[in-house]
Amino acid sequence: MTMRCDILTLFPEMIRSVIGASILARAQEQGRLDVRVVDLRDYTDDRHRTADDAPYGGGVGMVLKLEPIARAIDALTADGGPRRWIVTSPRGRRFSHEAAAEWSRDPRRLVFLCGHYEGIDDRIGATAPWEEVSIGDYVLTGGELAALVMLDATARLVPGVLGDPSSAVEESFVDSLLEYPQYTRPAEFRGLRVPDVLLSGHHAAIKAWRREQALRETHRRRPDLLERAAVSEDERRRLDALDERVSS
Ligand code: ADE
Repeated sequence: MTMRCDILTLFPEMIRSVIGASILARAQEQGRLDVRVVDLRDYTDDRHRTADDAPYGGGVGMVLKLEPIARAIDALTADGGPRRWIVTSPRGRRFSHEAAAEWSRDPRRLVFLCGHYEGIDDRIGATAPWEEVSIGDYVLTGGELAALVMLDATARLVPGVLGDPSSAVEESFVDSLLEYPQYTRPAEFRGLRVPDVLLSGHHAAIKAWRREQALRETHRRRPDLLERAAVSEDERRRLDALDERVSS
């Protein structure tokens, strides 16, 4: 499978610098990720390549103009392929692991339009069925970082993008549990020892220890996640017992 996407941006170099490194670069070389970066300024029609303008009705800041976006969309959609339209915005629905998982399986090309300034001319609503998506309750200087966060979280779930397919399965949020603690060599450094069980070679014991640690870490740091996690009666009782020990 290949994840295909088009990123519409005023700052193409920002996108290229990120997708040109590390796992996203390798995924492209392997043909598992196909990213087209579209510079909205290429679709302006004045000497200064103006992509923004002052808001009608007055007020601070600038608004992203409609025409360059509409023309860029015309050029993109000339191939007629199916697309999913995503626009970054702090007022959008919140991005999550579930969204990344769903997008990673979507056969359509994902279009990311990076919002900017005080917003985008609202008439873009008529250009495509846009989904507004936010990466969190804070305001970025532009949508590029948001689009990159979503692209990265989605691409790593595409089969083959991570070397070992199990690394995308055994990790935080997949089963609504945070990850268990990890260690690597040496087994002891400045008196700090790796838990004995991990050196035991006893796979069942290691698995049980990791499960217990994941439960405890989630219970301690993000108890809200435990509500939708698959936790057995017995495990719930053990976690409740931890609380009793703390409060007594
Ligand atoms: N643009 C500015 N802030 C943003 C956010 N939090 N999420 C998505 N796009 C944004």
